[in-house]
Amino acid sequence: MSIKPINLSATSNTKINGCIKVPGDKSISHRAIIISSIANGRTKIKGYLNSKDIDATINACRAIGADINKDADSLIIDGNNLERGYGENVDLSFGNSGTSMRLMMGILSAQKFPSALIGDESLSQRPMNRVANPLLRMNANIKTSDGTPPVYINPVSSLKCVDHNVEIASAQIKSSIMLAGLYGDSAFKIITPKSRDHTEIMLKEFGCNISIDSDSIKIVPGKLITPNLIEIPGDISSAAFFIVGSIISKNSQMKIENVGLNPLRTGLIKILEMMGANIQISNERTINGEIIGDIYTESSLLNGIEIPKELISSSIDELPLIVLAASQANGKTSIRNAEELRVKESDRILSMIRMMDKFRILTDEFSDGMNIYGGLIKGARVNSYGDHRIAMTAIMASLVSDGDILVEDCKNIDTSFPTFIDIANNIGMDIKIND
Ligand code: S3P
Repeated sequence: MSIKPINLSATSNTKINGCIKVPGDKSISHRAIIISSIANGRTKIKGYLNSKDIDATINACRAIGADINKDADSLIIDGNNLERGYGENVDLSFGNSGTSMRLMMGILSAQKFPSALIGDESLSQRPMNRVANPLLRMNANIKTSDGTPPVYINPVSSLKCVDHNVEIASAQIKSSIMLAGLYGDSAFKIITPKSRDHTEIMLKEFGCNISIDSDSIKIVPGKLITPNLIEIPGDISSAAFFIVGSIISKNSQMKIENVGLNPLRTGLIKILEMMGANIQISNERTINGEIIGDIYTESSLLNGIEIPKELISSSIDELPLIVLAASQANGKTSIRNAEELRVKESDRILSMIRMMDKFRILTDEFSDGMNIYGGLIKGARVNSYGDHRIAMTAIMASLVSDGDILVEDCKNIDTSFPTFIDIANNIGMDIKIND
């Protein structure tokens, strides 16, 4: 289905069964494209995510001089070997993609051309000083618009490598610093709490001198050499919709093949298991430094829990789905220490509180999270607030609702999971575009 969905309706009380593959991991696709673009040599990237967010990264990497060609399911990239591109002022549109904008702020700070980075309505409200400030310490000439996009970058003679202490557990912040630091000429260290480490893993694949310990990353800048082929695993954040969907609905069973299982991304699985879900993993292997495996799930009875603080970062993008799972659990589930949800594609605490209200599920709102009390989801019309993960979470609620669900403003599903509706309908759901 290639039509861009705006409002979607989903028939209540369906079940899902089957064996699927989900598209390539979004975070790893961004890294593979960016690092291939600044490496020496030609890289083939197989199984990348072909979506709007990734197109934003491809577009920005072409602006720095990388040659990028698409074929059926791969990209062929000839990198620019860390050359600092010359040229006229470049206007770059990053659409909805915070990861593209933040990672490219690091790379664009090192170029010899000025750039203006803009985003859509949602991205235009997201905080950029968390990335601009460490880059300013490296001598970058970078200005935000009151801390948000548009971001304006002007060339500097050189970037300076300095050590950083980043208190937020954010892969985007540390990655932007690491990428900018590659253009410097001395070793540097980033002290930061653990967050997804795809940039570190990908840099190692390209021969970077990088060492990692429990709370810090050290890089000695040097040329990056292509490993020729990068294979991207399926995105656990996309698989998550069907993992949770099959667990909360009756008579459902799923196998999801070839999913990335990086331990800094699998908080959802650990949390669902703590709640009582039956999940099995098999066929684990490592490709390009990333763990990959097949996931088996089935309908399970869930109990409410207090989500451990240490699992928040590794489940951050899946927390809306954990709210949905919690609505189907016995008793109360508590999510705290998740204030970062307030600055995602929407304020995901508020979006989920409002969704649960419409579903007649009781919640308590906190500045850093929420309590959810298990109950019966009523059919309702809800809004996604333009947020792809909120839209897809609302659709999955139809598996257990007592009436159909209509979700407004679903066009951004295309940013991360363009085949979501096709896959869901193939395994038993009934989702329609509703004009
Ligand atoms: C991402 C990092 C996370 C995550 C986002 C993707 C990445 O954001 O929520 O969807 O690919 O680096 P933060 O870095 O803001 O935690």
